[in-house]
Amino acid sequence: MQFEVFTLLPEVFPSYLDTSIIKRARERGLIHVRVHNIRDYTHDKHHMTDDTPYGGGGGMVMKPDPVFEAVETVIGLNTHFNDSLEEPLDSVRDEAIPTPPNPDSNIPIILLTPQGRVFNQTIAQELSAHPRIALICGRYEGIDERIREHLVTDEISIGDFVLTGGELPALILIDAIARLLPDVLGDPTGAQDDSHAMGLLEYPHYTRPPEFRGWKAPDILLSGDHAKIDKWRRQQALERTFKKRPDMLEKAELTKEDLKFIQKLKSS
Ligand SMILES: C[S@@+](CC[C@H](N)C(=O)[O-])C[C@H]1O[C@@H](n2cnc3c(N)ncnc32)[C@H](O)[C@@H]1O
Repeated sequence: MQFEVFTLLPEVFPSYLDTSIIKRARERGLIHVRVHNIRDYTHDKHHMTDDTPYGGGGGMVMKPDPVFEAVETVIGLNTHFNDSLEEPLDSVRDEAIPTPPNPDSNIPIILLTPQGRVFNQTIAQELSAHPRIALICGRYEGIDERIREHLVTDEISIGDFVLTGGELPALILIDAIARLLPDVLGDPTGAQDDSHAMGLLEYPHYTRPPEFRGWKAPDILLSGDHAKIDKWRRQQALERTFKKRPDMLEKAELTKEDLKFIQKLKSS
């Protein structure tokens, strides 16, 4: 899967992309992340990417022209894809850049914005099905509205709060989507039981030592009885969700046994 990130601050990305699971996924060619500096698509002497808002008011607004040109050049919307125009960071330059899957296909062009639909595991799943997505990071007071109206195909928020830029949200999307792709996690079933993956919060985890400061790991987890362990984990997941996020139970796929267990929790 290929991520095309458009930003005014490309220097934000390397440290995270060169770490741990995401780094290994890139090295193994499972994901490709290209970070494009919007400033490279300006044509004036001062490489202006922002300007004062029409109608007055504080703050600056990201100009439409460099953003359109960057996305159109890289994604090949109006112009042909042209590798030589992009300036990926040195740290991501070393990965072999494949030919884009299909410049004309429906590549989601996502604006990171506090006004978008709120990101969650279902959206991560949905986006992981695309071979290529574009992520536009805003800065300042935001972007010229014509970018939203005529370039962007989706708007995503990472929560009901306002950050100074879309770079962290973009990294959050890349991380959450990448770990859903085949072979990215060491354990192929790793993402299956995660919180939100099955509509429930995940069960608790324990590791060695079996007893720490007098607090014991549950005996059942050391019993080796996998049927009992599975049942215990399911009930723990149900109980946690019931206590911390009861709203999630309304949408979760529940068996008759699950419903009976929840009934018991309600009456206890
Ligand atoms: C200071 S914010 C602009 C907020 C804008 N004035 C508004 O009220 O909608 C600058 C940029 O940070 C990013 N951003 C801030 N909060 C975000 C959030 N919760 N989710 C996604 N992106 C966010 C967006 O790209 C936004 O354009």
